[in-house]
Amino acid sequence: MVNYKDLGLVNTREMFAKAVDGGYAIPAFNFNNMEQLQAIIKACAETKSPVILQVSSGARKYANQTLLRYMAEGAVEYAKELGWEHPQICLHLDHGDTFELCKSCVDFGFSSVMIDGSSLPYEENIALTKKVVEYAHQYDVTVEAELGVLAGVEDDVVAEESHYTKPEEVIDFATRTGCDSLAISIGTSHGAYKFKGEAKLDFERLDKISSMLPGYPLVLHGASSVPQEFVEMANQYGAKLGGAKGVPEEMLRKAAKSGVCKINIDSDIRLAMTANIRKYFAEHPEAFDPRAYLKPARQAVKEMVQRKIRNVLGSSHKI
Ligand code: G3H
Ligand code: 13P
Ligand code: ZN
Repeated sequence: MVNYKDLGLVNTREMFAKAVDGGYAIPAFNFNNMEQLQAIIKACAETKSPVILQVSSGARKYANQTLLRYMAEGAVEYAKELGWEHPQICLHLDHGDTFELCKSCVDFGFSSVMIDGSSLPYEENIALTKKVVEYAHQYDVTVEAELGVLAGVEDDVVAEESHYTKPEEVIDFATRTGCDSLAISIGTSHGAYKFKGEAKLDFERLDKISSMLPGYPLVLHGASSVPQEFVEMANQYGAKLGGAKGVPEEMLRKAAKSGVCKINIDSDIRLAMTANIRKYFAEHPEAFDPRAYLKPARQAVKEMVQRKIRNVLGSSHKI
């Protein structure tokens, strides 16, 4: 059993309370490798922003959960080296799907876990979430749950309203499970193809949910903006990403002022890296040292993360 506090990590409780009060959002970035982690930590150290580092199931398969946890522990030391005296870094399991997985993360030093029972029937989601909360809270690990299903583009259903979070369920769900934050579905989706036409989020629903749970931390998944500069750069150098579209930054700012205090970003990091790696290869066909082509990609991620923190989430200087 390793407690995250011994690793210098923090849970989400205090960072969310401050964010809700201040009307801003904490960035939650997925990471899969060293360059992404370096870019995120450097950007957060320079902007003095609290941060949530997320480990997804894909990341666990790709990089190994043990290695990622040690990387997060290393990130705390790296942040201190960069002059961040008391780093506010949370290590979070993204989309955990079983009690056993959540337990293994709690036991191994994660400071926060998500139990995603959103695809289960309501009562089963409650039972599973409650079981995870009861275990995690013994170690002061915070728990995110999900109510409502994020639409996927895979089945040609973009932002399917019938899957949106029902405001009339949220009080019952939060009270009976004891979860610390709630991911909601109001029209976002994972990946780089979020909207076929005009981007649209159901802010009326968000306002209803916030009024049901005043001051309660809400989470927005699928919140990448899919910056067109990266889509265009990637396409210019051979990618085929036509029609890629994300959540406009204006909408994220609005959500952050209406109870959303955690904004999940993965796709934007992927796009920033891919566009820059493609450009580097096109301009340097002789290159074969990974450090050469990963360096500009890492720099692009760092600059993108800083821009988001400063101009969209409003989390700079909140530590
Ligand atoms: O929630 C989805 C995240 O973007 C993680 O995706 O499992 O492919 O790493 P992944
Ligand atoms: P994006 O695909 O929009 O980056 O969403 C990431 C996410 O929600 C991770 O849980
Ligand atoms: Zn997600």
